[in-house]
Amino acid sequence: MKNISIAIDGPAGAGKSTIAKIIAKKLNIDYIDTGAMYRAFTLKLIKNNIDLEDFKTISSVLNDTSIDFSDNHIYLDGLVVDDEIRNNQISNKVSIVAKIKEVRERLVQLQKDIAKNKDIIMDGRDIGTSVLPNSKYKFFLNASVEERALRRFNELKANSDTVELETIKKEIEKRDEIDKTREISPLIKSHDAIEIDTTNKSIDDVVDTILSIIKKDN
Ligand code: C5P
Repeated sequence: MKNISIAIDGPAGAGKSTIAKIIAKKLNIDYIDTGAMYRAFTLKLIKNNIDLEDFKTISSVLNDTSIDFSDNHIYLDGLVVDDEIRNNQISNKVSIVAKIKEVRERLVQLQKDIAKNKDIIMDGRDIGTSVLPNSKYKFFLNASVEERALRRFNELKANSDTVELETIKKEIEKRDEIDKTREISPLIKSHDAIEIDTTNKSIDDVVDTILSIIKKDN
């Protein structure tokens, strides 16, 4: 299999990262979780009590920040922050940070650089439209908001976070809305992406569907 580039986009909780990780393993290619990069920078801003509307300070912090995703770990200024970026506070602020032009420019460039000359599967919101527009394989995963909220709820519960299902649903709807309506590279299905509704499908089913499409011409 030669020069493979797979873009997976979709809203929160559609199963993108779970599925992308399995496919990366099966095809023995790199997986990049771009959402983790936006989360890591949000974590830095929150930790430093930076006002999310203070774009000047955010820009200068950005210039002084290193973010990397490799071997399935997210690094913020050289330290692994895999767990910290998953908490609900970050989930509720990340979309506000991801709207900022300078943040998007920097992270999209970083993601393009990581993907250069590599076989890769990347997931996010704008992979098929902005980061890897020339990907041969583009998928847009979706699921009902109820199902997506339930998945997040179970994940958080497993980490013993105390949250209400209805609250999670509202938070996901709010995040989707910000992601879909932002000015720069909003969450949208690329015209050439294949949409898969994962609502009533198992992880294995979705993985098989994607792999069968890729393997057809390899
Ligand atoms: O994928 P995940 O849910 O961790 O992404 C967190 C947030 O990061 C998204 O809700 C979105 O605001 C932002 N994001 C983005 N572009 C990407 C990936 C994530 O704007 N490519």
